[in-house]
Amino acid sequence: MKHPRKIIIDTDPGQDDAVAILLALASPELQVLGLTAVAGNVPLALTQINARKVCELAGRTEIPVFAGCDAPLRRKLVTAEYVHGKTGLDGIPLPDPTMPLQPAHAVDVLIDTLRREPPGSVTLCPLGPLTNIATAFTRAPDIVPRVAEIVLMGGGCFEGGNVTPAAEFNIYVDPEAADIVFRSGVPLVVMPLDVTHKALTSRDWVEGMRSLGTPVGQAVASWTDFFERFDTAKYGSQGAPLHDPTVIAYLLDPALFTGRHINVEIETGSELTLGMTVADWWRVTDRTPNALFMGGVDREGFYRLLTERLGRL
Ligand code: BDR
Ligand code: CA
Repeated sequence: MKHPRKIIIDTDPGQDDAVAILLALASPELQVLGLTAVAGNVPLALTQINARKVCELAGRTEIPVFAGCDAPLRRKLVTAEYVHGKTGLDGIPLPDPTMPLQPAHAVDVLIDTLRREPPGSVTLCPLGPLTNIATAFTRAPDIVPRVAEIVLMGGGCFEGGNVTPAAEFNIYVDPEAADIVFRSGVPLVVMPLDVTHKALTSRDWVEGMRSLGTPVGQAVASWTDFFERFDTAKYGSQGAPLHDPTVIAYLLDPALFTGRHINVEIETGSELTLGMTVADWWRVTDRTPNALFMGGVDREGFYRLLTERLGRL
């Protein structure tokens, strides 16, 4: 097998973040250099604990977990307990982690890792607000051209927003950070709501997870049941979107997704559309393309991959 691809997962777990982390840890094609926690779905004090709980659930206590920024660059933190519960990881109760939180700050770790590893060898996988990444880029611009690629979950085009009519949560929480990342020149792959709202769980899949009979299967089923209540009420849909695992699935099998290489800019000025990803899907401007913005997913293939990989843990 080729050398595994080195990734850093920047995350605010979050049940769907947790499934993404498990998918990465189950996949030998990926070498998870570390998890960097950020404030988002719930405050940082909880996201860093949740990140460690997920590593322990997977039996991977050697994965270093770092805490990063506890607030967006210029705004007050907006959280989403109404989706993810008070802990951010409501569902089956998991034991408090015994593995330590690493002492270094996540932003320093991003900078040091990108300076240490060969240029073009580390992929960043942001699953929450982009505060840690933008802070690292601003503080150490020399690392920007060393990033292989950023594959992130965020934004929406035809699907609109999920926190305002125009904005998706991860971008809305820290639009200034998103703006820095989208202007950085690093190759971007974006998994917006247009994709994730097509990646809804089914009852059969959730029950399949439960019937794995493993702690991971139980946890994934209970997490999905927890936030499915919210999504079903909100969208009138059957099942819940597993947003963040699409990022890891793309690294494992990019052919599951279709999209367009287009220009995407972030609204930071308007109160009405703050955090909107203005995606030039029809290429009606001459703005330079900066992102592979996805629109379609092979849903069956995506869930087949998840089942196969999560079954290994
Ligand atoms: C995104 O926001 C969070 O609630 C989820 O974890 C996901 O990253 C979806 O809008
Ligand atoms: Ca997330």
